[in-house]
Amino acid sequence: MRTEVAIIGGGPSGLLLSQLLNKAGVATVILERSSREHVLSRIRAGVLEWGTVQMLHEAGVSDRMEAEGDPHDGCYFTDDDLMVHVNFHELTGKRVMVYGQTEVTTDLYEAQDAMGTTIVHNVEDVVIQDPTTNAPYVEYTVNGERRRLDCAYVAGCDGFHGVSRKTIPEDKRKEFERVYPFGWLGVLSRTKPSHHELVYANSSNGFALASMRSQTLSRYYVQVPLTDKVDEWSDERFWTKLQSCLPADVAGSMETGPSIEKSIAPLRSFVNEPLRWGRLFLVGDSAHIVPPTGAKGLNLAASDVFYLYNALVDALKKGDETGIDGYSERALTRIWKAMRFSWQMTTMLHQFEGEDSFAGQMRKATLKHLSQSETARRDLAENYIGLPY
Ligand code: APR
Ligand code: PHB
Repeated sequence: MRTEVAIIGGGPSGLLLSQLLNKAGVATVILERSSREHVLSRIRAGVLEWGTVQMLHEAGVSDRMEAEGDPHDGCYFTDDDLMVHVNFHELTGKRVMVYGQTEVTTDLYEAQDAMGTTIVHNVEDVVIQDPTTNAPYVEYTVNGERRRLDCAYVAGCDGFHGVSRKTIPEDKRKEFERVYPFGWLGVLSRTKPSHHELVYANSSNGFALASMRSQTLSRYYVQVPLTDKVDEWSDERFWTKLQSCLPADVAGSMETGPSIEKSIAPLRSFVNEPLRWGRLFLVGDSAHIVPPTGAKGLNLAASDVFYLYNALVDALKKGDETGIDGYSERALTRIWKAMRFSWQMTTMLHQFEGEDSFAGQMRKATLKHLSQSETARRDLAENYIGLPY
């Protein structure tokens, strides 16, 4: 097979890149290791930056988001004493969109099917060949048969555990990592959200987040030690813990019920530099991982896609390679800013085992400052709704 851009990975970043390229008249083929059902079964976050919403509009996949998504003006930060509202809309003129990543992925698959784009699922042993030549190709096995896909460029959208990053020789890349000593136990439940906007709680009982997917589907998280196992957490134990972390008026009116999904996610910050190796480009989780505290995972993948899609269209349609030559540096500039914000939010809202009492006072003082300084709230708002591309 031959195409213009071979895309490894059929997650949100691979699908969004393919959809935008196809709309610009660039041919793509997506190679995905799992089945479509499996990709769509993953429960991920659900807060879209303003920029990501614009990208979904440009990709022609915004109708259901606009119909079913929930624009939020702001969110809340609390500790045992304070409840601080950060009104993004008042402070920046922009909002975020609460719309599940699973829904975004579903909409993108439907749009790609409508485009007639070739998406090969259940591929194995993907190998990216000759990425530093003008004629890269990808080899893979499907239904027991070894296949070859010739292309002009390869987009590595295969997540943290994919092959793309590892295709860059180790001595040609640098990894930066911070692993946090706790995880997030997340529960999805068919219950009415306990608050009209997200509540990030840094209580003396630990961190908690009250989020939602819709007016009938809630998503909650509590901080747990990395050694904890999901089956150690009954629904009852989860609700008790969650309510102990949230302000009384939020916990008091909370509707509880059986969990329909329950999982523990580790927290990590990770960046690989560079994002380019010849004609191979890393996009999304294959290049960077953020802790979920800042809701930047999908949104950073979307900004990578914005830079790469424009660069590839310029290269393939106009022979102008300035975009692809500048892709790595441009994307990394925004990535490191989002890394800083996600690390800051994580540090500001979580208890660290073995920390001294001063650390707790710093978190309290940070929230106090946020409550008293419009400048601090505007800084947080600008980062939360998404820094410019
Ligand atoms: N060959 C083909 N496909 C692969 C391979 C491989 N060797 N390895 C992984 N994949 C597929 C995975 O099965 C997955 O569907 O690549 C896809 C990568 O998707 P994601 O992990 O969702 O990464 P990305 O598309 O960059 O989306 C980033 O996802 O994890 C969240 O918080 C993250 O929101 C962020 C978003
Ligand atoms: C979610 O809704 O799952 C969510 C929202 C905000 C975050 C993380 C997760 O920061």
